Amino acid sequence: MLRGKRVKLGPVKREYIESFLKWFNDPEITQNLMAFRPMTRMAEEEWMENLKNRENDIYFSITIPKEDGTEKLIGNCGIHRIDWKNRVGEVGITIGEKECQNKGYGTEAMELLIDYAFKTVNLHRIELYTYDFNIGALKSYKKVGFIEEGRRRQFVWINGSYHDAILMGILAEEWREKNKK
Ligand SMILES: CC(C)(COP(=O)(O)OP(=O)(O)OC[C@H]1O[C@@H](n2cnc3c(N)ncnc32)[C@H](O)[C@@H]1OP(=O)(O)O)[C@@H](O)C(=O)NCCC(=O)NCCS
Repeated sequence: MLRGKRVKLGPVKREYIESFLKWFNDPEITQNLMAFRPMTRMAEEEWMENLKNRENDIYFSITIPKEDGTEKLIGNCGIHRIDWKNRVGEVGITIGEKECQNKGYGTEAMELLIDYAFKTVNLHRIELYTYDFNIGALKSYKKVGFIEEGRRRQFVWINGSYHDAILMGILAEEWREKNKK
C-alpha cells in the first residue's frame, strides 16, 4: 500500500470489476486511452485473472478515504511493459470517477507511482504517451516533472479527427533533484 496525503495506491481487487466496467465503457474516459471496443465482463474478468502472471506490469487501485472510514475507489494506475535490462517503464493512469477529476488526485497518485517506480522498482526512466487534446493530463504530468520529448504526429483518430500523441519522460536523477529537500 502506498500512502499519500489524500490518495492510496493498493492492490486491484475482484470487487472493483463493476467500477472498471463503468469507466472503460465510457467514451469520455476511453477517448483518452488506446481503448475503443466495448469492454465485456468476460474480458475484464480474464484481465483480472491474468494480473498475477504479468511480470512486466504492476497495477494499482487508487482510493481516497470516505467519511465513514472506508475507502472510495476512484481510479487505477500502473507501470507497464517494464524493460528490466534498461530499467525503463511506461506508466498509465485513469481517474475513472469523473466527479473526482481535476481535484489533484491524479497528480498525487502519479507522484506516488513514480516514487515507487524509481525507489522500489529501481527504474531509471519512465515514459508515457498522452493525446494533444488531453489538457488536464498534460498539465498534471508536467506538474509531476515529466518533460515533453516528442510527438507522433496525427497518431490517433478520435471523434472524427487525427491527433498527435505526445511522448513524455522523466529520469530517476530528475526525480531525485526535484524532491531534494
Ligand atoms: C488525466 C487524469 C489522470 C488527471 O488526473 P486529475 O486528478 O483529473 O488531474 P489533476 O487535478 O491532478 O490535474 C489536472 C490539472 O489540469 C487542469 N485542467 C483540467 N482540464 C483542463 C482544461 N481543459 N484546461 C486547463 N486546465 C485543465 C486542472 O484544473 C488541474 O490543474 P490545477 O491542479 O492547476 O487545478 C484524469 O483526469 C483522468 O483519468 N482522465 C481520464 C483518463 C485519462 O485521460 N487518462 C490519462 C491518459 S494519458
